[in-house]
Amino acid sequence: MLHMRRYRYYVLFTAAVVLLLYQFSKGSEQWHPSASILSNPEHDRDRGSSGITSSHGTNELPQQVNGKTGNDQNKVSIPDLKNPTYGSDNTDHVNVNRPPVSNSDTQGKEKQVFEYDKDGAKKETPAQLVDKPGKNVWDGKQPNPGAHTTTTAHWTRPTQNFPIPDDEIIPLPAGKPKKIPALQYPFGKETKEARLKREDRQEKVKLEMERSWAGYMKYAKGHDELSPVSKRFRDPFCGWAATLVDSLDTLWIMDMRDEFEEALVEVEKIDFTTSATRTEIPVFETTIRYLGGLIAAYDVSGAIYDILLQKAVELAEILMGVFDTPNHMPILYYNWKPQFASQPKRAGASVSVAELGSLAMEFTRLAQITKQNKYYDAVARITDAFYEWQERGTSLSGIFPEHVDASGCNRTAQSELDAQMNELGTKDSKNIYTRSEEPALESAASETTEGELHAFEKRGIAGTPDEDTTIPAKFIENGEEIHVGPDPAVVPKWTPSHADRRSSENSEKETRSALDKPLLPDCVPQGLAPSGWSEQYSMGGSQDSTYEYFPKQFLLLGGLEPKYKTLHIKTTEAVKKWLLYRPMLPDEDRDIRFTSKMITKGEPEIDATTEYEVTHLTCFIGGMFGIGGKMFDIPEDVEIGKKLTDGCIWAYESTPSGIMPEGAHLVPCDDMDDCRWNQTMYDQRLDPLWSTRATRLEEYYKARAEKKRKAKEEAERKAAEAKAEAEAEADPGPQDNIEKSFAGNNGIRRRAPPSKIGSSKNSAEDSRSPRLGAGQIPLQEDEDDDGFNDPARPISHEEYVAKKIENEKIPTGYVDVNFKRYILRPEAIESVWYMYRITGDKYWQDKGWKMFSAIISQTRTEIGNSAIDNVLIRDSRKVDEMESFWTAETLKYFYLLYSDPTLISLDEWVLNTEAHPFKRPT
Ligand SMILES: *[C@@H]1O[C@H](CO)[C@@H](O)[C@H](O)[C@H]1NC(C)=O
Ligand SMILES: *[C@@H]1O[C@H](CO)[C@@H](O)[C@H](O)[C@H]1NC(C)=O
Repeated sequence: MLHMRRYRYYVLFTAAVVLLLYQFSKGSEQWHPSASILSNPEHDRDRGSSGITSSHGTNELPQQVNGKTGNDQNKVSIPDLKNPTYGSDNTDHVNVNRPPVSNSDTQGKEKQVFEYDKDGAKKETPAQLVDKPGKNVWDGKQPNPGAHTTTTAHWTRPTQNFPIPDDEIIPLPAGKPKKIPALQYPFGKETKEARLKREDRQEKVKLEMERSWAGYMKYAKGHDELSPVSKRFRDPFCGWAATLVDSLDTLWIMDMRDEFEEALVEVEKIDFTTSATRTEIPVFETTIRYLGGLIAAYDVSGAIYDILLQKAVELAEILMGVFDTPNHMPILYYNWKPQFASQPKRAGASVSVAELGSLAMEFTRLAQITKQNKYYDAVARITDAFYEWQERGTSLSGIFPEHVDASGCNRTAQSELDAQMNELGTKDSKNIYTRSEEPALESAASETTEGELHAFEKRGIAGTPDEDTTIPAKFIENGEEIHVGPDPAVVPKWTPSHADRRSSENSEKETRSALDKPLLPDCVPQGLAPSGWSEQYSMGGSQDSTYEYFPKQFLLLGGLEPKYKTLHIKTTEAVKKWLLYRPMLPDEDRDIRFTSKMITKGEPEIDATTEYEVTHLTCFIGGMFGIGGKMFDIPEDVEIGKKLTDGCIWAYESTPSGIMPEGAHLVPCDDMDDCRWNQTMYDQRLDPLWSTRATRLEEYYKARAEKKRKAKEEAERKAAEAKAEAEAEADPGPQDNIEKSFAGNNGIRRRAPPSKIGSSKNSAEDSRSPRLGAGQIPLQEDEDDDGFNDPARPISHEEYVAKKIENEKIPTGYVDVNFKRYILRPEAIESVWYMYRITGDKYWQDKGWKMFSAIISQTRTEIGNSAIDNVLIRDSRKVDEMESFWTAETLKYFYLLYSDPTLISLDEWVLNTEAHPFKRPT
């Protein structure tokens, strides 16, 4: 497995180098001609630049928005190759291909840094930050690695390969919404004192929003993210202004109406039909951030800003292409370029369960608003697939493994079938071709790697993969050659001639018409299935929001689709049975819960291993148990929700920074009701080798004593010889006198031959002799030196534990803190907010305030807030990233925790996994 992965990276790396070389040659070939393109504004589609000249574009301003686009200041600038200036701020940069600056081009880098200095960026901006090869994030500091063409390509609506007949489209459930128990606590009237305190806190949260928003608008307007230390920007999400779209509803909720309307002007400029930074749309992230952001902004602002709905539909229409697969499971990394988008493909054979299951709310709400069932149909089919799978059964019955085969093809059955066919002597022409030659783009393959890596963007552990890439490559998995992230520039295009080789019937056809049978490899159909032989089950990254959406979809559909209730109930039952644990803490009264990760090869009763993890991403689950328990009237689940939420609060309180780490491990208690701190056991968990250390130390001492004994003998022998020599020269007296004198305590004799002993080749013993003092012969009486300074001495269990805690700064209770970052995530405060709204208990508000104060004090920069490197120290290094969920989610939840509880009441709204409120049916 490990070996395979390494090999894969090696191949990826090789491919990356090849691509770079290719790009470079291509870039330099095409650069000169492109100069003429520059003069044509039609080719200059960069947002925030020369205005909207896009195909769909009108220059009409959004309703009720004052037009202050400031187009005048946005003159097209022709980039100077030697002095790239892009990324400096919200001024123009031209979205045409730039030849990559090679890593050795330090001049170029210095120049860039210099440029930023001019823009007021901090002097200490490290030049090496500039380079993140292979990471498909345009940080605004490098020529854009994702831009493959000089002329901007645009998505065009492809002909459907697998259309669903109108009468088979699953409609939104009809009927009067069912009565669902109130989720919110019946808040009474608050005292004046309480109100003032609350409003003061709320105002402080808003100030942070105003700061971060202003920083974004000044330095990163129109781009995905502000880099809050260097005052630059990044474009990891296609460059469609992720932070801007993601924060629209926050602006509205916080009553920042001027900023809201200013943002709408930018929204209109977004062109979802093209991306300068990515060849593949990350469907999950795009759906939860952009689509969810647009829909919620439309909902919370009272459905009056048509531009928001218009943009949501525009984006949704593009995304609908991902469902055009034989089983209608989505492609999760959508190559939007027309020559790819138009081709038949299957869903991935290894996709993350979170990405597959977390499109439901956004498409459902859009269907409700537009009254277009097709949007609902798209996600209802995924729900049906999960429902069917849950009924069919998984290894941990009720929940799903992290990696899912969504391709709809049973490879085992297919190869059995192929083998049978071969035995029958059937000449099957397709067997001649390797997978890489198959005309259909195997997005399945691309997601084997890509899905895994991209999953980290929001849902995974921060900072894990650096290999993220759309660079095309091949790798071998399970003996098959597989394409990764196909790119039009390098992967041979599908041509009819490929098809000809597959099927003689097609040989005359030059092009494939929409009526042709799509050319996909044969397939024995199956439902969703685990991908790979080892299945991981948890509530954490890559899994989380699929479960989060079950109860929320129930709310959004007014309780009219009972499948979501079943899915939720079975999920929580599985969590309670398999994953829930209580950690062993020094504070034995702190009755908290976390959920673990289980890994099984299919028989959990026998082969399961459990990781007692604590991850920030999983902190959403308190809220999930809370609202699920309320709406389905399961008081036990509300109680569990409280303990899960309190677990994350504990994790915040456990570190010197006051912020929870991204990922860590704890020690579970066997008995949730009787959980005593056991120092012996804790120390043993910190030291996986505890049981062997004592033995090893004992062996060391034995060997050492033996060595000493031998050395001593040798020294004695030598000394005796020397003495004998000396005495033979001087006075050859009787031997036995000499022996006696040695045995006695005679300092003078001892000193007599020091130079000889000292010069003898023997080391440790001899050189130590002088330290032992005159008259002492180092024999048994050397216990004062236990070898502590000997680097070869194995350390004891106690020493190991003390050293580990000291070196790694492990807070008491943790076994390790494997991811020390905090990247401004919302999940903990999200659950705290749910708990407050559900219980009305001010405990949650007060705990939330401590979290807020800690986060602000540790992450604040001059212009915003930054992810930090290490929560185990105070004033950690800042990593210069401000993800869009900081303003979309984290600050929103803090604000709502101190708002009047009727603002975004849980009984009127339901929030998607990016904290975007959708209106519940009444
Ligand atoms: C795939 O096919 C094999 C062999 O025919 C069968 O045992 C297995 O259950 C199938 N898997 C699914 C998920 O249908
Ligand atoms: C504490 O843990 C150790 C090691 O697991 C065990 O031997 C011991 O019995 C435990 N003590 C108590 C009081 O449970």
